[in-house]
Amino acid sequence: MFTEQSSVSPRSADYVARAKMLVAKMTLEEKALLLSGDGWWKTHAIERLQIPSICMTDGPHGLRKVEAGGLSESVPATCFPTASALASSWDTELIRQVGVALAQESQASDVQILLGPGINMKRSPLGGRNFEYFSEDPLLAGKMAAAYIQGLQSQGVGTSLKHFAANNQEFERMVANSNLDERTFHEVYLPAFEIAVKEAQPWSVMAAYNPVNGVQAAENGILLREILRTKWGFHGFVVSDWGAVHDRVKGVNAGLNLEMPGSGDYNRNKIIAAGRTGTISPAVLDEVVEELLAVILEGHDRHRAGVRFDATQHDTLARKAAGESLVLLKNADNLLPLNLAETKTIAIIGAFAKLPRYQGAGSSQVNPTRISTAYEELLKLAGNEVTISYAPGYTDEGTTTDHLIAQAVERAKGAQVAVVFAGLPDSFESEGFDRFSLDLPAGHNQLIEAVSTAQPNAVVVLMNGAAVTLPWADKVKAIVEAWLGGQAGGGAIVDVVTGKVNPSGKLSETFPARIEDTPAYPDFPARHKEAHYGEGIFIGYRYYDTRKVNPQFPFGFGLSYTTFAYSDFQVSSVAIRDTDSVTVEMKVKNTGRVAGKEIVQLYVHEQRSRLVRPAKELKAFAKVTLKPGEETIVRFRLEKRDFAYYDVSLHDWTVNPGKFDILAGGSSRDLPLRQTIEVASTLTRCPKLTRSSLLKEFVNHPVGKAFYNELVEAFGLGNPGAPIAEEDANLTPEEAATKRKADMAVKAFLDDMPVYKVCAFSEGRFSEERLDAMLGCR
Ligand code: BGC
Repeated sequence: MFTEQSSVSPRSADYVARAKMLVAKMTLEEKALLLSGDGWWKTHAIERLQIPSICMTDGPHGLRKVEAGGLSESVPATCFPTASALASSWDTELIRQVGVALAQESQASDVQILLGPGINMKRSPLGGRNFEYFSEDPLLAGKMAAAYIQGLQSQGVGTSLKHFAANNQEFERMVANSNLDERTFHEVYLPAFEIAVKEAQPWSVMAAYNPVNGVQAAENGILLREILRTKWGFHGFVVSDWGAVHDRVKGVNAGLNLEMPGSGDYNRNKIIAAGRTGTISPAVLDEVVEELLAVILEGHDRHRAGVRFDATQHDTLARKAAGESLVLLKNADNLLPLNLAETKTIAIIGAFAKLPRYQGAGSSQVNPTRISTAYEELLKLAGNEVTISYAPGYTDEGTTTDHLIAQAVERAKGAQVAVVFAGLPDSFESEGFDRFSLDLPAGHNQLIEAVSTAQPNAVVVLMNGAAVTLPWADKVKAIVEAWLGGQAGGGAIVDVVTGKVNPSGKLSETFPARIEDTPAYPDFPARHKEAHYGEGIFIGYRYYDTRKVNPQFPFGFGLSYTTFAYSDFQVSSVAIRDTDSVTVEMKVKNTGRVAGKEIVQLYVHEQRSRLVRPAKELKAFAKVTLKPGEETIVRFRLEKRDFAYYDVSLHDWTVNPGKFDILAGGSSRDLPLRQTIEVASTLTRCPKLTRSSLLKEFVNHPVGKAFYNELVEAFGLGNPGAPIAEEDANLTPEEAATKRKADMAVKAFLDDMPVYKVCAFSEGRFSEERLDAMLGCR
């Protein structure tokens, strides 16, 4: 459900008042100093006024506090699963707990703001940084982000929501201009930010590197002021992505508070000069300094000296989070979970079992406190009872050799089950460049083909930050998507493979069958520094479901060791106005033999939309825990925004009156429950009618409707359900039906004409002068 109103109380008035008082005492030079960082990670302290400095650092899935400078080694910190994994848990409470833990580690390292979460949409599965983003769906991404922010900020540590906005590729990331239309922007690329701002108020938002529709994000007044502050009510500060500032003066005027890293005298002098000449007005300058200063004061005040964190407890939480995020994609013959009392020989194949890929490369890279590998964890569990053999199968770069394959095949044949670890090496997926292919390294695919030919009981465990193709999916019995599961990911894999944890994650992104099927293909990533979002609102499942393209695995999909049944779907009303809300409820029952968790998903489909809309859109979800045989009622509330589309003529959300299907179930492609409701529009602001408006645009228009009826009457055309006109009374029923059909055809013809043409064709029955008068007098 979409929350329209901000649900977070504003920053304490005390900080705002103190910031105002300080700004009143600051010189122009001091204001300019504060607006640019002190080196890579800090704001400037101003001793004269006792203004403290605060420290910001990456983020998002662990603390990367660099003691020495720039890109050097960071302090040890818990490495949690990356965002694509966390989002696959669909568990807001769990994400909140991760946020709390991250805040404790930030407090312990004297960090006031953690740079995250990253919530850009996965426009293409090839996006190099997809591992660091939550989803292809704005609602899921927004809710995950809000929970993460709430967790951190509840402990007095701020967040920086990034990268605002339309930053959906790594290729030429500082210059590629994101070209997207207003509706696409508002329906797909902005809502995750909107949800996070309205529900959690991050202390900071990070302006992206790229230009958006020709204007740098860090100088974009529409984004930074109109949308972020005025429309959504954001009351933190905006920081540039590291190095995203082009024209600092334009940035200040657009509402960019802080430049990071600092640029020394260069931009400071520009601000001072602009302050002197009035290019930046005193009011604007004071405002951007105040907004920043209020957060600095809060961050400083809420820092708790001497906080320590329990690395073991955090590692346990990281393991839990990884386990909840893991997605079981296939489990033929219920091969999993492996029962170690019966499975006495297991072949572990693939170097990732011993040297796991557990996080992404780039600015988010954490120096973990420890690392668990699936191989060691399984050995521990197996003790002397189970024989574990091992073969690496491929090199660090994912290539293989005849020898490596032969060795792996031999191990696989000699065991009851082979578990193959595969995925994407760092060089395939990183911040700074996009993936060049949807495929796993050729060596990984060859290895899986060979092992699954030799061993019918083959399980594949994947470690990758984004969707990949699985050409051997039919040949293996089980597939586990373990993502980049963080430092405790190895233990979590063993928990799931051996049944200690029942898998409950569901895909937070579609796994397409081939790159040619993906919505942004062939526009992605950019040509000549222009990224054309030609697929518009159709990204992810919005595209696959509308186009009826079968993905390899759909959005929201994931198996469990138990089964769930859905029933008793009820809506509180089958006809509402768009100002009302409707409550939807259903029963979900665990029909299997073990306890498990189900992620219940609710989608909305508009039956006859006035303009093109996706086949369905996710509007709510919940994760429920059920014992065998247990059932529960899951309830959701839907409101106007859940039925609305973004109307570019109104620059606002609006509901097209009509019928909407509400669909519920366990994945975007498995929605057994359906109810249809009628939603009426209470639109008071209506699009302006002009001479060129189409006749049909008058039909549901509060003012145009009467005019429409008059015109239709002038043409002697009735409505299908209207009583028979007097002159038609002598017709036989067949003649009347034929005439009715002909009238409807003429009406359809007129409906699509500009209204002044309709007048012109009315042979004087309705003059253009009259039309002008009617439009003029509205
Ligand atoms: C990344 C940001 C990161 C910043 C600081 C930039 O290159 O895009 O996500 O927070 O560096 O490391």
